[in-house]
Amino acid sequence: MALARVSSSSLLLLLPSSTTTSSLLHSFLRPFSTSSVSTRRLSHPRSLPIDASISQASPLPPTAREEGEVAGAPRPTSRRPWKPTCLYYTQGKCTMMDDALHVEKFNHNLSMDLPVNASAADKVKPQKLDYFLVLDLEGKVEILEFPVVMIDAHSMEFIDSFHRFVRPTGMSEQRIKEYIEGKYGKFGVDRVWHDTAIPFEEVLQEFEDWIGGHKLWKQKQGESLNSSAFVTCGNWDLKTKVPEQCKVSKIKLPSYFMEWINLKDIYLNFYNRRATGMMTMMRELQIPIVGSHHLGMDDTKNITRVVQRMLADGAVIQITTRRQPDTNDVKFLFKNRIR
Ligand SMILES: *[C@@H]1O[C@H](CO)[C@@H](O)[C@H](O)[C@H]1NC(C)=O
Ligand SMILES: *[C@@H]1O[C@H](CO)[C@@H](O)[C@H](O)[C@H]1NC(C)=O
Ligand SMILES: *[C@@H]1O[C@H](CO)[C@@H](O)[C@H](O)[C@H]1NC(C)=O
Ligand SMILES: *[C@@H]1O[C@H](CO)[C@@H](O)[C@H](O)[C@H]1NC(C)=O
Ligand SMILES: [Zn+2]
Repeated sequence: MALARVSSSSLLLLLPSSTTTSSLLHSFLRPFSTSSVSTRRLSHPRSLPIDASISQASPLPPTAREEGEVAGAPRPTSRRPWKPTCLYYTQGKCTMMDDALHVEKFNHNLSMDLPVNASAADKVKPQKLDYFLVLDLEGKVEILEFPVVMIDAHSMEFIDSFHRFVRPTGMSEQRIKEYIEGKYGKFGVDRVWHDTAIPFEEVLQEFEDWIGGHKLWKQKQGESLNSSAFVTCGNWDLKTKVPEQCKVSKIKLPSYFMEWINLKDIYLNFYNRRATGMMTMMRELQIPIVGSHHLGMDDTKNITRVVQRMLADGAVIQITTRRQPDTNDVKFLFKNRIR
């Protein structure tokens, strides 16, 4: 939830009539769904969160959300039918991979949402790092979602992802229920959140196994990431939120969180334009905006698309911010930056 945090609700419109909703949905679904799937969907008369810009620009609205869905990006140029991503799968917890209907209905391959244009990949400049870990936390009071997309810095290709819903540690059960209903209820992903969320400390243990498996970090060294870095949109995620959460969770700030790339600073220094938020960057780079704001994996995929685009445009994406281990002070490495 890097930016434009202010106005998420103003970006969501509700379609005025359920008749319109059903007929739009129906024509959207028919070409690639079995009739039983369509019928089931249509029997969910949910209000549709529609991004303001796409509702005007495209005849195809995102579909109603059900448990475990996330908005993907129906690309106007792509013929591939869009499917919502299975949010059990992104967490390594999908048990329905051999259910044909489930697999037909939900995307189980994130790289399909982040395709690389081969002629654009040829234009990538030599980079100082080998991998980028794009991160966009969700949750203001405590972290609720920890989504990471790993891409190759040279080929721009999707390598892997790590995604966990995070259960707050300093909140009563009742408060958690209300918090999750308010935050995820409108997307219909509160169910998968309750089914899967684990405490932040456990999330980090699993994350360490994951970065270890990719040879990006070793437990013993207590060092920064190997030839890779987090990419966030703004400094909030790693400067503010993770240290706050570590305090609440009573753990030491892990060494891999000590430096990162604030994409806004790279953007400003490369294009010589200020971008106050993700929306601005996507608009200026003419990357289509569809789906739902403040669903962790959606926002992370957006940032990843901006990273891919900036690489293709010739940007060198490098560390912008570093925390001093002794003093905890945060040092900004670019003089020209967004304050
Ligand atoms: C995922 O999609 C990509 C193309 O977008 C394809 O190359 C790859 O084989 C797919 N992976 C699996 C496991 O189906
Ligand atoms: C692929 O990249 C090239 C070079 O950047 C660009 O001219 C072209 O429009 C891109 N094609 C698509 C489908 O995005
Ligand atoms: C660091 O990453 C490189 C690939 O980028 C890998 O070859 C190397 O083994 C890694 N080093 C460690 C200590 O894991
Ligand atoms: C990311 O894209 C989604 C749709 O894919 C959009 O609704 C959302 O607002 C974007 N997120 C940000 C942070 O701009
Ligand atoms: Zn699944």
